[in-house]
Amino acid sequence: MTQNDKKQRVAEAALPYIDDDMVVGVGTGSTVNFFIELLATIKHRIDGAVASSAITEELLKQHHIPVISLNSVNELSVYIDGADEATKHLQLIKGGGGALTREKIVAAASKKFVCIIDDSKFVDVLGRFPLPVEVIPMAQSYVAREIVKLGGQPVLRAGFTTDNGNIILDVQGLQILQPSELEAALNNITGVVSNGLFARRPADVLLIAGDQTIQTIT
Ligand code: 5RP
Repeated sequence: MTQNDKKQRVAEAALPYIDDDMVVGVGTGSTVNFFIELLATIKHRIDGAVASSAITEELLKQHHIPVISLNSVNELSVYIDGADEATKHLQLIKGGGGALTREKIVAAASKKFVCIIDDSKFVDVLGRFPLPVEVIPMAQSYVAREIVKLGGQPVLRAGFTTDNGNIILDVQGLQILQPSELEAALNNITGVVSNGLFARRPADVLLIAGDQTIQTIT
C-alpha cells in the first residue's frame, strides 16, 4: 500500500466523526486534502467548515463547502487535521505546511481534535522532523540565537511566508523528551508567534493508517 493509499484510508476513517449540522474545523496538508474531497460528498449534512489556512479555504470553496469564520462560531465540535509526527501520548509536531499558528488556533477552539496520519509519522520521541517555529521577520536573528541556547539548530525556510506574513525557522537536532516544557519555552521567546509542538493541546483521537488496519488511540 502506498503512502497516498494510507492517507486516503485514514481520511475515510475520520468521516464518522462528522455529525449532522456541525461546523467542522479543517486542517492543512496532503492528508487533509483527501478528507476535504470526502467532506464534499456530505456537504449537504454540515453547516460549514472553518479553514486553518488560505490554501484549505481555497480548496473548500472549490468543493462548494461553505467556509465560516472562526469568529462567528462559539466552539467547534470537531477538528480534523494531519501531523508531521505523533506519539502514543497524542502529542504532535505540525507545521510542515507552514500553517501551524492557524492550526493551533482552530485546535484550541475545538472540542475534539481528530488527527489523521499514516504510520510513517508515528514515533517514540518527537524531533526527527524539524520543528517549525513561526517568527516575526524582524526577530529572526534574535530568535535563532535563543533557539540555539535551547539546543536546536534553526534553519530559515527559504522563500516561504506564512498566511500571517511571518517567516518559519525549522529547528533541527532536537530530541524532544519534554514536549510541553519545550513548547512553552519556545513560546516565551519574544518574537515567536507560535511553534509546531502540539503538546499542551494534543490531539484527542489519533487515527493511524497501517498496511492492513487503522489504529485508533485516544
Ligand atoms: C501543515 C501541517 C500538516 O498537517 C502536516 O505538515 C502534515 O501534512 P501532510 O498530510 O501533507 O503530510 O501541519 O502545517
